[in-house]
Amino acid sequence: MKTLVLILQNAGRLLGVILLILGFLFWTHHSFDLIPLHTGMGVAFVALLWAMAAIGASAKVNPSLVIAAFLWGLLVLYFGMSMGRFLPGRAHEAIRVLHFLIGLSAIALLESLGARIKRRAAAVR
Ligand code: HEM
Repeated sequence: MKTLVLILQNAGRLLGVILLILGFLFWTHHSFDLIPLHTGMGVAFVALLWAMAAIGASAKVNPSLVIAAFLWGLLVLYFGMSMGRFLPGRAHEAIRVLHFLIGLSAIALLESLGARIKRRAAAVR
């Protein structure tokens, strides 16, 4: 289990960094043709988050964290797919900041789940 958690954690870190780099490129009006890649990687990131949440559930980490990770994944997907429709014009900047913060929190949730699962596994050994 520890190996799987490590793989998910490192894959999540790699995806997270690439998502942020691509996101900041879009923010500065570059590479819009890479949006489908960013979207696909975002969906893959949520799949990792859910896989980590499932491991967390079986390792009996705090259920609120597991539920939060599941719901947060849904929010990341919903927001990412609908953000273009929320607010038009300059107000879209606020939506961008929100999307960035929601994504950053998803990265933090994955880290937190991974750390708790590892701690729990070490405690029951
Ligand atoms: C951990 C996950 C994610 C992170 C850290 C992340 C980060 C970012 C950042 C920093 C930006 C640039 C600023 C912004 O427009 O908000 C961005 C743009 C964008 N993201 Fe994500 N994102 C994530 C997941 C997703 C997902 C799952 C989708 C779609 C399902 C998505 C779709 C988009 C789109 C369409 C843009 C361009 C929006 C625009 O320029 O108006 N992102 N992302």
